[in-house]
Amino acid sequence: MHSQRARGVLVIISVLVYAGWARGEGRPCDVSVPDVNNLTLNCSRRDITEIPDWPERLTTAVDKDHVLVTFFNNSITNVTRLPSLPGSRIAISFKNNRIRDVQEDAFRNIQRLVYLDLSNNCISGDVLRSEIFQGPYSDGVYGSLALETLNLGFNEIHSLDRYLFQYTPNLTRLYLNNNPIEILDHVTVLALSSATNLEVLDLSKTAIDSIPLDAFRGLVNLRQLDLSGNGFVTVPESLSLVGSTLQYLTFNNNPIIELNDDSFVGLSNVLELEVGENDYLEEVKRSTFTPLKSLRVLHLCHNKNLKYISHNAFRSIKEKLTLKEVYLDNNNLSELPTDLLVWSQLDILGMSGNSWLCNCDLADIVVKQGAGTKFKTDEIPHCAAPMRLSGAYITNITIPFCPVFDTSFTYKRGFTLSDLKPKHVLWSILGVATVVGVGMICGLLVNAAKAFYRRKLRAEPIRYFNINEDSEFA
Ligand SMILES: *[C@@H]1O[C@H](CO)[C@@H](O)[C@H](O)[C@H]1NC(C)=O
Ligand SMILES: *[C@@H]1O[C@H](CO)[C@@H](O)[C@H](O)[C@H]1NC(C)=O
Ligand SMILES: *[C@@H]1O[C@H](CO)[C@@H](O)[C@H](O)[C@H]1NC(C)=O
Ligand SMILES: *[C@@H]1O[C@H](CO)[C@@H](O)[C@H](O)[C@H]1NC(C)=O
Ligand SMILES: *[C@@H]1O[C@H](CO)[C@@H](O)[C@H](O)[C@H]1NC(C)=O
Ligand SMILES: *[C@@H]1O[C@H](CO)[C@@H](O)[C@H](O)[C@H]1NC(C)=O
Ligand SMILES: *[C@@H]1O[C@H](CO)[C@@H](O)[C@H](O)[C@H]1NC(C)=O
Repeated sequence: MHSQRARGVLVIISVLVYAGWARGEGRPCDVSVPDVNNLTLNCSRRDITEIPDWPERLTTAVDKDHVLVTFFNNSITNVTRLPSLPGSRIAISFKNNRIRDVQEDAFRNIQRLVYLDLSNNCISGDVLRSEIFQGPYSDGVYGSLALETLNLGFNEIHSLDRYLFQYTPNLTRLYLNNNPIEILDHVTVLALSSATNLEVLDLSKTAIDSIPLDAFRGLVNLRQLDLSGNGFVTVPESLSLVGSTLQYLTFNNNPIIELNDDSFVGLSNVLELEVGENDYLEEVKRSTFTPLKSLRVLHLCHNKNLKYISHNAFRSIKEKLTLKEVYLDNNNLSELPTDLLVWSQLDILGMSGNSWLCNCDLADIVVKQGAGTKFKTDEIPHCAAPMRLSGAYITNITIPFCPVFDTSFTYKRGFTLSDLKPKHVLWSILGVATVVGVGMICGLLVNAAKAFYRRKLRAEPIRYFNINEDSEFA
């Protein structure tokens, strides 16, 4: 009897404690000190709906450089003004809440805020006024925040206030991915181009299909750009404005059909290029990669309709020692031109996940030119055809009837009309016109000369008549 009642009480107590915990009442944020320089306040997953006061231990902490406060996965709806925090580099995360509003001057007590994550919330462009990032207030003016990284991904932003970055002069990394921007309108462009210290910009999955020239004009430090998952049918021309600084370009999952010599114009400092998951990409044309004079790593993978790569795609950069890693995995390739790359010069080559036709050309690339030694051990490509070799590693094939290779003989794809571009047609017409023109001028000159000599001959009547007379008399 006794023990049963006791058990019942225990159950009730534990249910109460659990309910209290679940409402966040019984679970204060954890303060931890991972090392002498760092302090972390963990307020994750505590069903918090409003920003609380900091625990005493935090406000009295001194001599900490890095202070991290995380409110990950709570139910905060309004970022109200935060109390001040110790630390010279402060990071705060509000990732995964229900934030709809941010109060003016919300961070004015935290001038040393360098990292702010507001991703996965319900923030619209209207909420992002420049006032929300105002720094400390003194003598009637607002100072700036030290903010370097701002994550606004996965929100409801259509447009940015033109003065949004007025109080964040040190902003170097801006994530706007997964927002319904659709069009980079005039004010958004002004906002972006005012963030002149930006080095990293993520515009992936923002439903944009063009970038106005002015958007990049001020970004003289931009090193890394992600344009994946948008509606671009060509690589935007405006990129050439940041060509002197851009080092990492990601251009996955856009509806481009081909890459050509216009695609990467001016991007002479790009070290790593990633062009993947472009379901409509069918062809990489001649000189596509030629402007990328510093290219070190190329990821051209998971383009499920990519069938052709021109043997001139790497014209004038393939001999350079800079190109080290080329990944062509998981496309729809069956053949590669033997002179596409200087295969032996690469460190890593990826070719897996294609339907390779194991013919003499492929044997030349893999065996004779040494490409076979560049695959990662667990990623050796297989032959798909001919039937006899289907499923075999392409490094395993020996084809007895292949001719003795003559390296001076290079691969040529048949010339097709689709190789003709308006530019080429124009040059051809100009060429023909020049030939015709020169021909006409020559013709005229000859005619003039003939006429001249005829006249000159007529001017010698004696001889002429003599001849005539002679012939008459003859
Ligand atoms: C601790 O601080 C150092 C810099 O002093 C930083 O690089 C590191 O990531 C921090 N560690 C944690 C767990 O915050
Ligand atoms: C923060 O607290 C939550 C809930 O107690 C826990 O799941 C999480 O692992 C903690 N995070 C860190 C970085 O300690
Ligand atoms: C956040 O918390 C909710 C419960 O409050 C949970 O269902 C959800 O999976 C969590 N999200 C993440 C990303 O952990
Ligand atoms: C957020 O908090 C501020 C300050 O308390 C208040 O002025 C503002 O109206 C709040 N916003 C919403 C949407 O409740
Ligand atoms: C911006 O960075 C510089 C150099 O690190 C620093 O001196 C300056 O105080 C920072 N600006 C703000 C507003 O914190
Ligand atoms: C690859 O190309 C072949 C035709 O060459 C086509 O039948 C096949 O469906 C393509 N594969 C994919 C994944 O699109
Ligand atoms: C590669 O060749 C060896 C013999 O030379 C054979 O045992 C092996 O099965 C082959 N592997 C494949 C995947 O073709």
